[in-house]
Amino acid sequence: MILIQFTGLSGAGKTTLAENVCDLLQQNGYEAEIVDGDVYRKTLCRDLGFSKEDRCENVRRLFKVGRDIVKENKIVLMSVINPYEAVRNEIRRNNFVRTVFLDCSIGNLIERDPKGLYKKALLPENNAEKIKNFTGIDDVYERPLNADLVLKTDLEPLSLSVQKLYRFIIDNLPTN
Ligand code: PPS
Ligand code: MG
Repeated sequence: MILIQFTGLSGAGKTTLAENVCDLLQQNGYEAEIVDGDVYRKTLCRDLGFSKEDRCENVRRLFKVGRDIVKENKIVLMSVINPYEAVRNEIRRNNFVRTVFLDCSIGNLIERDPKGLYKKALLPENNAEKIKNFTGIDDVYERPLNADLVLKTDLEPLSLSVQKLYRFIIDNLPTN
């Protein structure tokens, strides 16, 4: 089957897109599952923080979870920030993996800020509420150089991104 590794900043639409595409796949008779970073950080990955080392370990663990689900002949949507090119490349060496970049400008993300995280990340250093090492603000996000699909989630409506990703998955399913 196929595993979609998303990459994109917080708030770019990873979870929402994964949920919508997963529903659409299921409505059309495909078995699909979501492996979401925010969800697994409360269980399997609760020992991990947001250092480079921990983020790499987080993504690698989630990939192992996803790989096991792929073995059950299901479609996997792995919705994580996945900020490092080297880790993404390591994962995409598996022929059942495709990389999907949710490209959204930082200005748009700060403006939308649905979880209020950017507001906290932008607070001054001495503020106790400040979130440090926030991706795209004061922590690294390496834009992918070779994504298989790029969705500009700040320029197109969710419904269009859903259609594009759904079509992309169907077109990339193994033929046998
Ligand atoms: S990573 O970098 O791939 O390991 O991140 P991930 O497991 O996807 O977790 C991202 C969610 O954690 C919340 N959060 C943060 N994100 C980025 N940087 C920092 N410092 C941070 N602290 C908490 C945030 O809710 C992310 O969820 P999404 O769905 O991306 O908004
Ligand atoms: Mg999310």
